Amino acid sequence: MRAGQDHQAREHYGDRIFHGGTAGELARLEALAAAFDPASRRWLAALGVGHGWRCLDVGAGPGSLTRWLAGQVGEDGEVVAVDRDTRFLERISHPRLRVVQADLTVEDPPLPGGYDLVHARFVLMHLREREELLDRLVSYLRPGGFLLVSDAADLASQSSPDHAFRRTMTGMWQALAATIGTDGQWGRQYPAALARRGLRVLGMAAELPVVSAASPLGVFWGLTFRECRAAISAHTDVRDETVDRALEYLGEPDTRDLSMAMIGGWGRRPG
Ligand SMILES: C[S@@+](CC[C@H](N)C(=O)[O-])C[C@H]1O[C@@H](n2cnc3c(N)ncnc32)[C@H](O)[C@@H]1O
Repeated sequence: MRAGQDHQAREHYGDRIFHGGTAGELARLEALAAAFDPASRRWLAALGVGHGWRCLDVGAGPGSLTRWLAGQVGEDGEVVAVDRDTRFLERISHPRLRVVQADLTVEDPPLPGGYDLVHARFVLMHLREREELLDRLVSYLRPGGFLLVSDAADLASQSSPDHAFRRTMTGMWQALAATIGTDGQWGRQYPAALARRGLRVLGMAAELPVVSAASPLGVFWGLTFRECRAAISAHTDVRDETVDRALEYLGEPDTRDLSMAMIGGWGRRPG
């Protein structure tokens, strides 16, 4: 996977949209983590992650799960966190944590491989090279090691009772696909995608948090719609007034809705 002219000409996650230096980006990622960390931690704990494990967290972002993993592996374990933008990870100081800055779509970072656990959450869905990257993530596992990948499948926003919320969500996924190449239904592929790579598929689950003014996922959508507003206007027929109405809906005290699910798939490399 090398940077060709085609790659350089295209826009990617973090170039403009979701840039780590944007005011609000850390708060947006922290809201996402608050919505989904409890489920991710449950799934990781069920795999048995514990003392002595060597873990790789790919696209670790603000590092809430990285920090949690570092607390699980004990003195003999290690957690490596990779991201193209490590500014949020640099805030975490933990003796078991090593941070590696690398753009996974253009380089093979100097990782030793042989991990007991490889984890990636809400990363592959945003990368056009997701199929090749999933191959790479599997290759980083030791025989008998575990992969946990989690991504979006928007299961519920199209049945929302609110027209503006439905339209804005549709516009946002279309705008992200047109700009950075996001696939908002990628999590839906996991049973087949893991089995095709020779993993023994051990589990699959979906987490579907409530969207309300006070819920982490409601806060996340408010910040995400604001971040994507210009791209929605430029790439779809969803109007700015519709985005405004969706933001009002998210702020109303009575709003209780559903939207994107996180689909987690976990499997084990034979051997
Ligand atoms: C939506 S955030 C998810 C963060 C974290 N995994 C979580 O769930 O809390 C996506 C992360 O993937 C990282 N990322 C995006 N493209 C990347 C690439 N090509 N190489 C490495 N990391 C990348 C971003 O910088 C960001 O931290």
